[in-house]
Amino acid sequence: MPLNRILVADDEESIRWVLSKALKQKGFSVDLAHDGRQALELIKDNCYDLAILDIKMPGITGLDLLDKVREMNNDLLVVIMTAEASMKNAVEAMKRGAYDYITKPFDLDVIDAIIEKVARARDIAGQVTTLKQELKDRYQAEKNIVGNSSAMQDVYKTIGKVAVSDVTILIQGESGTGKELVARAVHFNSERLGKPFVAINCAAIPRDLLESELFGSEKGAFTGAGERKQGKFEQANHGTLFLDEIGDMPLDLQAKILRVLQEQEVTRIGGNQNFSVDVRIVAATNQALVEKVRQKEFREDLYYRLNVVPIMLAPLRERRDDIPDLASYFLSRSCTEMSVVPKRLTDDAVALLKAYSWPGNVRELENAIKRAVILSNDPLLTAQDFGGLIPAKELQQSGTQDTSLEDLVDLKLRSCMNGIEGLDKGDIHAMVLEQVERPLIRLVLEKCRWNQVKAADVLGINRNTLRKKISELNIEMKRG
Ligand SMILES: Nc1ncnc2c1ncn2[C@@H]1O[C@H](COP(=O)(O)OP(=O)(O)OP(=O)(O)O)[C@@H](O)[C@H]1O
Ligand SMILES: [Mg+2]
Repeated sequence: MPLNRILVADDEESIRWVLSKALKQKGFSVDLAHDGRQALELIKDNCYDLAILDIKMPGITGLDLLDKVREMNNDLLVVIMTAEASMKNAVEAMKRGAYDYITKPFDLDVIDAIIEKVARARDIAGQVTTLKQELKDRYQAEKNIVGNSSAMQDVYKTIGKVAVSDVTILIQGESGTGKELVARAVHFNSERLGKPFVAINCAAIPRDLLESELFGSEKGAFTGAGERKQGKFEQANHGTLFLDEIGDMPLDLQAKILRVLQEQEVTRIGGNQNFSVDVRIVAATNQALVEKVRQKEFREDLYYRLNVVPIMLAPLRERRDDIPDLASYFLSRSCTEMSVVPKRLTDDAVALLKAYSWPGNVRELENAIKRAVILSNDPLLTAQDFGGLIPAKELQQSGTQDTSLEDLVDLKLRSCMNGIEGLDKGDIHAMVLEQVERPLIRLVLEKCRWNQVKAADVLGINRNTLRKKISELNIEMKRG
């Protein structure tokens, strides 16, 4: 952001003349205004990098003009010229957001120094903007949130809406649905980008340690406390604190967290000094917090304090449309990471992935793809490469749909042979039987219109055995 266009406003012609000459000589483009009103018009119509304004002008004074510039939310840098070196004027100018001030009469050296300072500041501001953009780009390139289902689009909208504010966010969703990813996206799309993003997993840290991790501790605060330690709240100052698995936070710590949120101050354990902290809180949990509130395991007041903007991440099985996009995203990432030639998924592989129920959600999908990339040498990944997954639909509906039993056995068999589930070969008989018996019995019962005598006959088993199996395998009987 080079310094280029400068506006000079002064009712004294000699000042305008001197400044204009000096600045133009340095190669700047200079506009002149003889009073505040004219200066305001010029500022509105042009894009200046710097304005040098006299404090005392007829009509609108330099200070009023400064207020107007700030109201316009313009990041124009303003230098105020004051006639007398009165402390009061200088302080007032700086308070209202002037970049600097100079007192008249001035040497041209002073102007040179100011110009140099402004140029340097603009340079740094430019670098910060570039760095922030780079950070954002890198973040987006590495950690994309993938998925265009309407559920995910709602999530994107919310992330966009909360980006500019500091509201507290509560992300809820099953394990592996992308809660941490969304928490980071909130931070990296907010004004706090470039400031710390600090995460703490409340479930992973023992109770006693959790407190000092969060709030910090003074030297010797408790047995085992060594040097003075900064807490996560302090570390996250001006940035975002991600309280992961907040549902596991012990009740007494919940009270302390609430106090920090209300007072925006923390006290280290064993200390008596309060530090004010400015942190944006994003919390996440895979537990039903409302239920925990009802059971008095989670403080209701903290729940409401956190749940200002809720983000619900739907389980993957409820947004199956995202599966193909996620699968090819993870596939290309895995291939790059493992330096193997790019691979593709066949249609039947995609169909299989779409049909599976993904109890471990996106994380499970990511791992399934990685595993397939490691195990297969072929550039095409077929359904066989995902043999470990039995489509949930098939399991639930086999017998009512036209899924062939043979396919099911085949699928299971392949997964066992590939060693995907870590099975010993000797387990296959029991394993496959277990997987096949239920759909087999269900199918035969259905074909026999739920007549158990007939079904037992077709199956070639004793009627009592059939009855036992029906109850063991939890098969729901229907009327024929
Ligand atoms: N929509 C998505 N697009 C791309 N990657 C995703 C998406 N959702 C999740 N992931 C990836 O899946 C993995 C799990 O996500 P994440 O850790 O955010 O889940 P989580 O909800 O925090 O899980 P847990 O409750 O187990 O902590 C990560 O590697 C993440 O990058
Ligand atoms: Mg997580």
